[in-house]
Amino acid sequence: MSGPTPYSGYRHRAVPAPDPELTQVGPDTPCGEYLRRVWQPVAMLAELGERPLALRILGEDLVLFRDRSDRIGLLHKHCIHRGASLEFGIPMERGLSCCYHGWTFDIDGTILDTPAEPPTSRIRQTRCQGAYPVHVHDGLVFAYFGPPEARPPFPVFDTARGGAEPVPFAIRMPCNWLQVYENTQDPVHVVYLHTRMSGAQFGPASGATQAIEYRQTPLGMINVQTRRWGEHFWTRCTETILPNANQTGAIWEAAEHPKVFQRAAISRWMVPMDDTHTAIIGWRYFSDELDPQGLGDRRKVGRQTIDFIGQTEEERSYAERQRQPGDYEVQVSQRAIAVHALETLASSDQGVAMLRRLVRRGLRAVAAGEAFASYPVGADGLVATFCQDTVMPASARPGTIDDREGLAAIGRLVADAVIDSAGEPAARRRAEIHDRLAREGLQQARK
Ligand code: FES
Ligand SMILES: [Fe+2]
Repeated sequence: MSGPTPYSGYRHRAVPAPDPELTQVGPDTPCGEYLRRVWQPVAMLAELGERPLALRILGEDLVLFRDRSDRIGLLHKHCIHRGASLEFGIPMERGLSCCYHGWTFDIDGTILDTPAEPPTSRIRQTRCQGAYPVHVHDGLVFAYFGPPEARPPFPVFDTARGGAEPVPFAIRMPCNWLQVYENTQDPVHVVYLHTRMSGAQFGPASGATQAIEYRQTPLGMINVQTRRWGEHFWTRCTETILPNANQTGAIWEAAEHPKVFQRAAISRWMVPMDDTHTAIIGWRYFSDELDPQGLGDRRKVGRQTIDFIGQTEEERSYAERQRQPGDYEVQVSQRAIAVHALETLASSDQGVAMLRRLVRRGLRAVAAGEAFASYPVGADGLVATFCQDTVMPASARPGTIDDREGLAAIGRLVADAVIDSAGEPAARRRAEIHDRLAREGLQQARK
């Protein structure tokens, strides 16, 4: 076997094609069909004013509008008459009128009027503008792009009802969706990019050496990160909800006070606009529990802006972004579509590899005609999710060897309790996990 060859750039210039199965999202692609089986956020409600809003989602050109009766519709952008864009349409009492010849479409695509046609015209009875159902939830507009007969109920995650205030945001990025998504199953970059390479972007505790394990959940997967920080153990579960949602814990977790099952500071979807553009749309959650030091700032959360560093191109100069790169810089710079054939996957990429496997398995199942496994809804109407932070005093487990295996063992106890409690109503789950950890000998974890 030949070893590495210095100065061998000339031999390695070829750039193979990206993986089409995981990265192509347009109509009739396997991944595009997979992503079309769940409700996807398409915009913040605040982005929709009196005029229609042109959007590109999953490779489709669309127009979101609000008619004068305050009903919201999502239509194919090009009018079925002769293709003029409905972004120049006029919202009516009912529906949207194309500016070119006045054809008027209801929010479901039904033609309400064709004013230039004779009364005997049967166009209204025979044609429809393409349309998708929408649902507004906590300031975000969601749409369902899949087969009408497979439309699932709109899921409400338990994190949305935990008492924290959801503040909507939408950030659009010029790269493929998968590289944005898989960053959330790369907990190793938190230690390096966000702490040791760029300075402590999210607090010094995130830079502590961690034991990491990856677990499947009924919704997807979690990475389980356990660190020793000062006098505490801290176990964080960062969550993937397939096919393209993520939940992450407190941005600036200090891990200085005991806590059990503290929930998400962000729920977000990595929504492909097309193969080379992605919209990160979701909620940033605010509460005293999640941010006791008040480091967050709701006023900075919205369209193309969020209150922590490194998420957009606009927020800083190129020189600053080079000095202190963040998530935006690493994700977008992996090329417009990251080329897996050129990667050198290593032991630190287990989560990325697992996420790709789960996405591939999911999209192949849909391609084979299987129904998307819809999210289980509890008796309280909520979908139990698995993102959390638990901090306990190091004295809670006397004798724990402060090495990766000792830390991993604590992480496993916490993850087991979090996963096994999913059947409990959201309101009882924290107490259930607390009691379970106490039974396991972690007596000093606090409710
Ligand atoms: S192109 Fe829309 S009404 Fe003619
Ligand atoms: Fe990050």
